[in-house]
Amino acid sequence: MDLTEPRRHGSVSIRLVRQRDARVLQHELLTNRGWLRPWEATSPDGPVSLDMRLGIRRLLQQYRDGSGVPFVMEWEGRVTGQLNVWGIARGSLASATIGYWVSERFAGRGITPTSVALATDICFTELRLHRMEICIRPENRASLRVVEKLGFRYEGLRRRYIHIDGDWRDHYAFALTRDEVGAEGVLGRFAAGRAPRDAATIPPADRLPA
Ligand SMILES: CC(C)(COP(=O)(O)OP(=O)(O)OC[C@H]1O[C@@H](n2cnc3c(N)ncnc32)[C@H](O)[C@@H]1OP(=O)(O)O)[C@@H](O)C(=O)NCCC(=O)NCCS
Repeated sequence: MDLTEPRRHGSVSIRLVRQRDARVLQHELLTNRGWLRPWEATSPDGPVSLDMRLGIRRLLQQYRDGSGVPFVMEWEGRVTGQLNVWGIARGSLASATIGYWVSERFAGRGITPTSVALATDICFTELRLHRMEICIRPENRASLRVVEKLGFRYEGLRRRYIHIDGDWRDHYAFALTRDEVGAEGVLGRFAAGRAPRDAATIPPADRLPA
């Protein structure tokens, strides 16, 4: 399994982040503050560093420890954002969570759904994980579209679940298990237009008040 080599579908590819991505990622983070801040993880203990060099070093350490897989997402070979597989639990859970962002100028090209499909398939087949999860704030329409397109299954509302943009925020949880996707893979069924349409639908009781 060589994740330093890009895995592609059309113009989109993902590969393991490397230390020399720090400059471009740092630039994108700093020039997209208004775009990213409402959805960015923060710490209840105070401000977190935006130092990408340090951030990448930590992510690659987690990769070596087996607790995460830090990818960058690319469009025609240009770095557009990050996709992070984190919280890998082995044993009888065999589960992990995916987080992601793209720069505003690359939004709307389908980079994230394709990348999430590629990453989820890698996790199911090469990392032998059983379940992949994505948690999204109810206000994040763009991110909710990503799980809708891929047919991730709605699992429930988690109250004050993750510290985002300076406070504990409610999140919707979505997941896929390897057996519900089958041999076709997440990318295969997405590309063929066969992702289940209503899997990510939020039941009325969990919807935000209009
Ligand atoms: C959520 C996000 C990763 C989606 O990535 P993407 O590669 O643009 O995904 P898509 O191209 O499939 O677009 C998804 C939806 O975003 C919305 N969108 C598209 N272009 C947009 C733009 N320029 N500005 C705002 N929203 C846009 C559309 O609703 C689109 O759905 P549609 O294809 O049905 O029209 C991206 O919007 C982002 O990075 N947002 C900021 C960080 C963030 O929210 N991270 C996720 C936290 S859970």
